[in-house]
Amino acid sequence: MVILGIESSCDETGIGILKNKKILANTVATQEDLHSVYGGIVPELASRAHCSKIDNLFINLALKKSGLKQKNIDFIGVTSEPGLKGSLLVGVSFAAGLGYSLGIPVYKINHLYAHIAVNFLTPGVKFPALGLVISGGHTSFFYIRDYTNFTLIGKTLDDACGETFDKAGRMLQLGFPGGPAIEREAKKSNEKIKFPVALISKSSIDFSFSGLKTSVMYYIKKNGLNNVPDICAGFQKAITDALVKKTERAIKKYPVKTFFLGGGVAQNQYIVAKFKLLFNEKKIKFFVPPKKLCLDNGAMVAIMTYFLIAGKIKKPPQPLRIEVQPTKSMY
Ligand code: KG4
Ligand code: ZN
Repeated sequence: MVILGIESSCDETGIGILKNKKILANTVATQEDLHSVYGGIVPELASRAHCSKIDNLFINLALKKSGLKQKNIDFIGVTSEPGLKGSLLVGVSFAAGLGYSLGIPVYKINHLYAHIAVNFLTPGVKFPALGLVISGGHTSFFYIRDYTNFTLIGKTLDDACGETFDKAGRMLQLGFPGGPAIEREAKKSNEKIKFPVALISKSSIDFSFSGLKTSVMYYIKKNGLNNVPDICAGFQKAITDALVKKTERAIKKYPVKTFFLGGGVAQNQYIVAKFKLLFNEKKIKFFVPPKKLCLDNGAMVAIMTYFLIAGKIKKPPQPLRIEVQPTKSMY
């Protein structure tokens, strides 16, 4: 079974090709340079960049790398939610056109489930499980009954975790995206500055990061940018403490033996190390994707599609249709 996965929900165009649970190609065109001058993602520029790159990524890079031909593809999976409207439309339109021309079904995929699903290729997966997506646009807990059955149980009430890294990075003049730069700078410090972490209430498993962002802003206003590594370390620790604390609460509320992490922020080795400590202590099996599969990519979409198809779901998703009003309906 060959599955093509298409990702274009935000600022990365991704094409992944999966053959019988093996990733044959996973090409990603990032738009970091395009958006970095603005300090954040400009949606219209993102859609245009997806448009100009998606063909080449598929035909000249991913297909070539996989050694396959278009006619070898059996199914297409495409991110259809959540994300930027224009960006999603580029991927969905491309998938629908390709599916139509090849005569194969196209499955709509939830981007957040796909971030978790990259872990499903690792042996030892068991359910029920909990999953946490920490990305540029989301910080979401899921209770996962099986490969395709996800229930949202907690989320951020304001900024996403990665978004907070990016906003802090901008205040610290570290460029965009802020996450990798903050992790790098934090390594030079020994965590002297403390920032507050919002825990909301005694039992909540929702997140709030906007207060932390404001504290960093006031700190910089008062003290300037003389000790960037210390600010980064304090900031990273505050975010990590919130993530770990809420995870502790989540596993108490939903006692499971498996935990999946996913999303771009899961590249952060400081955060991953703290999660490993927690799960070792609680004797919970912890899955985190390899670094290159944490950021948005097409392989994760193909993997989620594989489990949808293999999952013997009663009602398979309908092939995508792009609705238009043909001229003759006007008469
Ligand atoms: O999952 P992703 O590619 O995009 C969304 O689905 O939103 O994640 C991108 C986010 C950015 O906010 C970026 O700053 C963050 O992942 N990120 C990191 C690191 N690498 C990427 N955050 C913290 N530490 C990192 N090493
Ligand atoms: Zn993502």
